[in-house]
Amino acid sequence: MTQRLKAVKVTDTVYWVGAIDWNVRYFHGYSTHRGTTYNAYLILADKVTLIDTVKKGFEDELIERVSSVIDPEKIDYIVSNHSEPDHSGTLKEVCSIVKPQKVFASKMGVKALDQHFGDLGAELVAVENGGELSLGNRTLKFMETRMIHWPDSMFSYLVEEKLLFSQDAFGMHLATSERFDDQLPWSLLLRMSEDYYANIITLYSKFVSSLLETVEASGLEFDIIAPDHGPIWRDMGQFGKMFEMYKRWSARKTSLKAVIVYDTMWKATEKMAQYIENGIISTGVSVKRMSLQSSSRSDVASEMLEASAIVVGTPTLNNDLFPSVADVLTYVKGLKFKTPFAGVFGSHGWSGEGVPKVRKYLEEMECEVVGEVKAKYSPTEEVKEKCYELGVEIGKKIINTIN
Ligand code: FEO
Repeated sequence: MTQRLKAVKVTDTVYWVGAIDWNVRYFHGYSTHRGTTYNAYLILADKVTLIDTVKKGFEDELIERVSSVIDPEKIDYIVSNHSEPDHSGTLKEVCSIVKPQKVFASKMGVKALDQHFGDLGAELVAVENGGELSLGNRTLKFMETRMIHWPDSMFSYLVEEKLLFSQDAFGMHLATSERFDDQLPWSLLLRMSEDYYANIITLYSKFVSSLLETVEASGLEFDIIAPDHGPIWRDMGQFGKMFEMYKRWSARKTSLKAVIVYDTMWKATEKMAQYIENGIISTGVSVKRMSLQSSSRSDVASEMLEASAIVVGTPTLNNDLFPSVADVLTYVKGLKFKTPFAGVFGSHGWSGEGVPKVRKYLEEMECEVVGEVKAKYSPTEEVKEKCYELGVEIGKKIINTIN
């Protein structure tokens, strides 16, 4: 049979054998506007080894790509760097086709795979942090990367090729026909990496900081970084820039930027947002104003990555804050952004519970709430002025903090 879905050569011994998911738009709550890839890699060493698998539904694509270079039954080992189902969801099916001698994972990975799948039909072996696995003419070295992205996560380093299989780290949700970073513009790589870091990794930033230090102290050299999503990094100049961005993001650096996020029923809250926006702009601080009728929760998270303030507007609906606002606040609170400043605003008709409820969220997020403005139905001239002044005050706070 002719294999039309082909493996892509990464080095003389390593091939990409993953899947391209052009159409996924919902990734456990994250709006993946540009799809993603589930990267798996085949090492044609003496012991033929598959690194990770793909999401359920893409197993035929994986097997066809493997078959374009080798009979899948010739795979001796499978290494599972991460047990989340976008990388292990087809492990059981792949094991039944490949019949590997062994499946390797971190200690936590062994537990997680057992809890996900029960008997894989192959011996499941735990590897040590810092341990090595001989593939005959090649060697894999393992490094636990707990909480990047799950407790089981680990890196695998192919010593002779100076190639790091980094699972979720340094990945991005981006479906493209190109497989390598040097085939894509830096602006796109940066934008998609910002989205990915903000939505997937922010919560685990302290683990990222310490991992980056460990990687730098390891003395390991890298020619290629092969993540489980998005392009493979082989331009080390470009990857060096991304490594620095990871340092910046994990250190929670913020910039001269504020995000205004709101929903609106009859445009009163939106009008207030406009005056706050212009107050902030008057101070020279950059603003992103985001209506939840046109932005998703993950769009907001992406914009919050380096923002110094979040200003949240809500109408009061059914004696509560607006549902879309509760949604986004739940999401960004969970991601534990360290946004220094906040503001609250909103219109109400009679009871007015929306603004105090938003304020409570923001205080739980450990933001300094600089001020709040309420409007009864439509904002009066006095309320518009208060909105503008709130914007000015937030802008000044940001400038004083950053400079
Ligand atoms: Fe791509 Fe944490 O899975």
